Amino acid sequence: MRQAGRSLPEYRTLREHGARGAGMTGMLGACLDPATAAEATLQPVRRHGVDAAILFSDIMVPLALAGVAVRIEPEVGPVVDHPIRTPADVAELTARALGETPTGPSGLAAIEETVRAVVAELGAPGRPGVTGGMPERALAGLAHSRGTWGWTPLIGFGGAPFTLAAYLVEGRPSRDHLAARTLMRSDPASWDALLDWCAQITGEFIALQIRAGASAAQLFDSWAGALSPEDYRERVAPHSARALEIAGRAISPTAGGRVPLIHFGTGTARILADMRAAGADAVGVDDRTDLAWAISELGGEGACPVQGNLDPALLAAPWTALGPAVDACLEAGRAAPGHVLNLGHGVPPATDPDALTRIVARAHGDEEWEGTA
Ligand code: CP3
Repeated sequence: MRQAGRSLPEYRTLREHGARGAGMTGMLGACLDPATAAEATLQPVRRHGVDAAILFSDIMVPLALAGVAVRIEPEVGPVVDHPIRTPADVAELTARALGETPTGPSGLAAIEETVRAVVAELGAPGRPGVTGGMPERALAGLAHSRGTWGWTPLIGFGGAPFTLAAYLVEGRPSRDHLAARTLMRSDPASWDALLDWCAQITGEFIALQIRAGASAAQLFDSWAGALSPEDYRERVAPHSARALEIAGRAISPTAGGRVPLIHFGTGTARILADMRAAGADAVGVDDRTDLAWAISELGGEGACPVQGNLDPALLAAPWTALGPAVDACLEAGRAAPGHVLNLGHGVPPATDPDALTRIVARAHGDEEWEGTA
């Protein structure tokens, strides 16, 4: 989940001293520097012993590689210099393609290189990894081969078309996404063109990660909960389906085929079934949604595997509150055909990393873990 690494002292050290990449500085520069991005990806695996890694990147990276002037401001989030507001803005934007900028080709190559370096260390079926690779542990429901792994899958990701479009239109994080929803209402043709373009570039961005060796991928629709179910279904979901379709065609050399796709958003209780129907193999559930309810909403025994959904607020709570919540989450997840234990949204930056390690140990049944990192 977003900012997973930011709570780690070793991450902060890496970012202070890490190299700058592809002419970009800051967070996006770090994403495009393979040595930095690979190390940041591996740090939480080494520290916490999680059963999968998520690529260190950002949902804004493909926009940057398509020539959009975007940066990530600390404590703010993504900022777009020239927000997309008019049909002319949309026409100008959608004429661009992923990688067709001066930094584009080297940026795409940097992401491939990062994924390859990470996979080399995490291993693959039949080739044990140096990092991670807990035996007897499976990414439940998403596993290609259950049982003894000896390797750790890498999850790739991209932003869903609506969330990307919301940043492009608003120009910065927004509470109500008013400008984006106004464009959706006032100019449906431009809206469709914008979301179609976002679906294409994010789908290609995810496909690139899979072809380089990711074993699963996640589409993040962080702001989908801002929409009515009708608007989501009619004006957004078809574009998310397109992004998932493009990603779903990619073949992973690690998995030896197509890979499971996870679809996540926040505030999505009323659209969970639509998110699955968009073509996802698994659905991520946020912490505002009861996991047992979400599973029944997704079809009960016929549900897809789910991911989620510990409340990030619990990370700062005492273990007497957190431990039972982990157990309750695992218990609720048993009703689904597979469950990936995760948070319901990002890790707060001030989180004590030991709390995360302890959750992983609890889920693995490693009762002997003492809490010293
Ligand atoms: O956690 C990880 O390190 C995994 C990689 C990852 C990042 N961003 C790295 C990151 C992932 C999966 C994301 C996804 C992402 N990025 C989303 C979708 C998921 C979600 O949380 O809803 C969104 C909306 C973004 C956009 C974004 N990037 C925001 C809102 C922020 C926070 C800005 C802030 O300072 O509060 C970022 C920055 C970001 N992305 C950081 C990391 C590690 C922090 C950068 C830093 O300070 O080092």
